[in-house]
Amino acid sequence: MTSSEIRRKFLDFFQKKGHVVVESDLLVPAGDPTVLFTGAGMNQFKEKFMGRNVTYTRAATCQKCLRTGDLDNVGKTPRHHTFFEMLGNFSFGDYFKEEAIRWAWEFLTGEMRISPEKLWASVHVSDDEAHTIWKDRIGISPEKIVKLGDHDNFWPADAPLKGPNGPCGPCSEVFYDKGPAKGCGKADCGPSCDCGRFVEIWNLVFTQFERMPDGRLDELPSKNIDTGMGLERITSVVNDTESNFDTDLFIPITGRVQEITGKSDALTLNLVADHARAAVFAINDGVSPSNEKRGYVVRKLIRRAWLRGNTGKGPFLYSLVPDIANIFRDVYPGIAENAEHIAAVVESEERRFDETLSEAVPVLEEMVSRSGGVLSGEDVFKLADTYGMPVEVIEQMCRDRDARACIEDFEVFMSRRKEESRRGSDISC
Ligand code: SER
Repeated sequence: MTSSEIRRKFLDFFQKKGHVVVESDLLVPAGDPTVLFTGAGMNQFKEKFMGRNVTYTRAATCQKCLRTGDLDNVGKTPRHHTFFEMLGNFSFGDYFKEEAIRWAWEFLTGEMRISPEKLWASVHVSDDEAHTIWKDRIGISPEKIVKLGDHDNFWPADAPLKGPNGPCGPCSEVFYDKGPAKGCGKADCGPSCDCGRFVEIWNLVFTQFERMPDGRLDELPSKNIDTGMGLERITSVVNDTESNFDTDLFIPITGRVQEITGKSDALTLNLVADHARAAVFAINDGVSPSNEKRGYVVRKLIRRAWLRGNTGKGPFLYSLVPDIANIFRDVYPGIAENAEHIAAVVESEERRFDETLSEAVPVLEEMVSRSGGVLSGEDVFKLADTYGMPVEVIEQMCRDRDARACIEDFEVFMSRRKEESRRGSDISC
């Protein structure tokens, strides 16, 4: 089943259940300064969860999301991404746990034709109601329903203790069991084991609280539902592929990366494809590479992809833009319309970085040999400040040369420099 079919089937399914199909919000959420990028389907509905501006009570979306919290895992594991699409259905004071669970089950076993035997569920340790629904109304055997705490079964994770403030609640997750042959074989292997056998496919959040600044959980005016299912994961599960990267959402991009760079290791193909998608979508939604907050994230993604895929023949990432536009032609036609502009922004960032590195790398190499393999804080500062080399790139290049950059020293050096220039400016005033 193609990813486009899955996206369409999801939205149609929930439309038939009375949901308004709402367009994906931009990656930069309007009027929400609390987040850099849209990281979940619920972002655009925060107000409605609080009982404000509820013009409809059921919605379904396929939301463009960008998360960079797990950057180091991207490309290394079958399931981590920066940019991804999240399928979600939402209730604002309308239906609650029973329908959310029943419809998730109906969609997975009916529309997606997943065998019921393959599905497991988790519930919050305090949530007997959700446990009973899974056991008695859905009929999952009790040993396939696990009870977990605030870290796994509360959204946002650990919110009662750590925040953030705002709408939150216990959740119930649905897992797909890839079978014992894909697992660690331990007797207690289950949905909370990270060996890869169990894939979390859908998070059903029972959004009934607002976390207050003092950590109190107040009841919201109404009980709500916020669900999220990653399109990349469900496409992989439904098509029984080893990894999300082996689906139609990535294959045309990874294939092109291989063709252009001549590299064929999975890390390069997956990381470059992931970061290219993220950069393309972010630029299309109005974020250009820069040294400021959001722009810096895009800059960092392009630079990471460039370092991984670069073959010394100049910019290459920009040439993936038409392939990405093509994959999303039906659902996000704006990318194809804007493709020339996006490609120009990416290419110019690649050129800039290439120039920076061609000046800085010989300096770094000289520092490595002079210092016996340990760059001082002052060396790192010089590379970062004079040559504009990102610190994470300096660290990586040192590692590649069996050397080390003293980042703690660098931070001390930086704060001393800042203090000196502050005192300097006091004097001149
Ligand atoms: N907000 C929840 C999540 O991001 C469900 O959509 O997992």
